[in-house]
Amino acid sequence: MAASSSKKSGTHSAVLIPGDGIGPEVIGAAREVLDATGVKIQWVEGAAGESALKTHGTLLPQETLDAIVKYKVALKGPCTTPIGGGHKSINVSLRQGLNLYAAVRPVRSIDGIKTRYTDVEMVIIRENTEGLYSGIEHEVVPGVVEALKIVTEKACTRISEYAFQYARGHSRKKVTVFHKANIMKMADGLFLKCARNVAQKYPDVAFNEMIIDNGCMQIIKDPSRFDVLLLDNLYGDIISDLCAGLVGGLGVVPGANIGEAGAVFESVHGSAPDIAGKGLANPLAAIMSGVMMLNYFGETDAAQRIKNAYNSVLASSDPQIRTRDIGGEGGTKDFTRAIIERVKKK
Ligand code: NAI
Repeated sequence: MAASSSKKSGTHSAVLIPGDGIGPEVIGAAREVLDATGVKIQWVEGAAGESALKTHGTLLPQETLDAIVKYKVALKGPCTTPIGGGHKSINVSLRQGLNLYAAVRPVRSIDGIKTRYTDVEMVIIRENTEGLYSGIEHEVVPGVVEALKIVTEKACTRISEYAFQYARGHSRKKVTVFHKANIMKMADGLFLKCARNVAQKYPDVAFNEMIIDNGCMQIIKDPSRFDVLLLDNLYGDIISDLCAGLVGGLGVVPGANIGEAGAVFESVHGSAPDIAGKGLANPLAAIMSGVMMLNYFGETDAAQRIKNAYNSVLASSDPQIRTRDIGGEGGTKDFTRAIIERVKKK
């Protein structure tokens, strides 16, 4: 991970946020797998989401925010945001509140997960703090509402710098920015201008720009053309799910939200109310997010052991040790147990 990864040392601390829906199932699995490596992590539980609304009267309790500020790292499950009703998304609040300005989401074809594509190897870098997710909406007159897309030169330059630094730091060759500056000439125009300006400072990294509708079509036709994708908040959200579909779905795409003061690791997927509590959720995205967290801690050997373990499980022909979303017949616990067995063997 670019930016501020901390060095390997005795015991690490991380806030553990189970979240809602399938969150407790997949975060519980990720915790078990990380603990099986023997790396010492002091887990500090924090409440957030609908479950916190019941216990603390708010979606995002101050004590959870304080714990993340204190420990600087969190592993978070998805949180349900009630639709309507005046609740601001807890994810938006968290990312804005802690200034976790860069969402980093590696999307890769995974051996053992069959899809139409075999050569997806991209990283989505999404601006996390502004754009249409600024949450500023109001009713102008009855029947007419307005949502403001806030775009600042500071945030656009910061995320562009992050994308190019990431590309350089991870030996990646190209950054592609998606935009709609042909229509939103000022808002997306500013995002694009900042990306272009930053690109000039990185002559070793190729730069490409694409109008987002064309970009979607190009991704579906040939995802191997893409390397690092640079996107604003809304586009990054949508393109993340689109790209997840290329590699096996939301159950296999991890993520991290990175800021100057810390990092919150979380899968791209939501709380999946349709399968919550049934033991069917794929824990891999949460486990992979945990692997990103281990790398952030500098625990690269343990991270690699987990990767080897899940690759070995995915290479197995036994359908009982993978979840249904990726072609298996097993549940969350079967998949997790198989990974843990292999982590412990090494
Ligand atoms: P979702 O990501 O929860 O589910 C979309 C589809 O993918 C569903 O069919 C679900 O069963 C499937 N899916 C997701 N994760 C899976 C996994 N690990 N294993 C197997 N299948 C999986 O998106 P949806 O339904 O739009 O949102 C549900 C709730 O989650 C909403 O309240 C939304 O606001 C919230 N959400 C929270 C996020 C977060 O906390 N970071 C991110 C996205 C949505």
